[in-house]
Amino acid sequence: MLRLKNIFKTFNKGSINEQKVFENFSMDIGDDDFICVLGSNGAGKSTLLNIISGKIPLDEGNLILNGIDVTEDTEHEKCRKISRIFQDPSLGTNPSMTIYENLSMAKNKGNKFGLSFLVDKKDEEYFKGLLEVLRLGLEDKLHTPVSQLSGGQRQSLALIMAVLGEPELLLLDEHTAALDPKTSEIVMEITDKIVKEKGLTTIMVTHNIDHALRYGNRLIMLHRGNKIIDISGGTKNSLTKGELLCLFKDISDKTLFS
Ligand SMILES: Nc1ncnc2c1ncn2[C@@H]1O[C@H](COP(=O)(O)OP(=O)(O)O)[C@@H](O)[C@H]1O
Ligand SMILES: [Mg+2]
Repeated sequence: MLRLKNIFKTFNKGSINEQKVFENFSMDIGDDDFICVLGSNGAGKSTLLNIISGKIPLDEGNLILNGIDVTEDTEHEKCRKISRIFQDPSLGTNPSMTIYENLSMAKNKGNKFGLSFLVDKKDEEYFKGLLEVLRLGLEDKLHTPVSQLSGGQRQSLALIMAVLGEPELLLLDEHTAALDPKTSEIVMEITDKIVKEKGLTTIMVTHNIDHALRYGNRLIMLHRGNKIIDISGGTKNSLTKGELLCLFKDISDKTLFS
């Protein structure tokens, strides 16, 4: 589905702040993959998503999406195929617009002239149906400004918006990290439900070990731009929290002394 081929990325090349993040990194992502990505701070997790979404250019290497080389495509060109949700609930939605207006905008993503905020009854019914799935009562708040919603409600709305255009790939960058633990669980359950229902290829960066073990079919751990764990299927399912914590500890110990 997506192939990252011999990727190189260094920030601030040649300066005192030079930061080599990826050096000859390759990875294949399958159609059915729901990948959880773990890794310490600075491991390259967000950079990986930034590279895939086209937010930052590569130094070398190729990105192949469903057989098409999209290495040179801009973030805007990719936005129909690749949707992304960030940690900050204020980034995925526009707070000064209503839920209806946000959903209209998402529905018309990529269309230059499709944006009109005259309320369309058909859209209204369609959006209500989408929001009902969340079971957060948002279907009764269609014309409420998003600024009045809680963080969890906003991330859930951002999810609905992200998948509205039937993307080929969904990227989640610690999208529940800014939420309280209970809301984070709810948003994760909603995420899992949407990913399964739509059969979306998904890459989810998380710092929550329980979520990484419970959700998805594949687990990757990044460390200094390398995949040091890449397990899937039964191997992933049988991995325990204790084993994963041991691996984490191993890495931090090695990092401290290297
Ligand atoms: N736009 C940027 N400019 C300069 N350095 C960056 C940029 N983005 C990330 N980095 C650096 O690259 C490394 C990996 O960062 P990142 O991918 O954000 O890590 P994380 O795994 O915590 O998400 C870090 O050392 C970070 O400081
Ligand atoms: Mg990050």
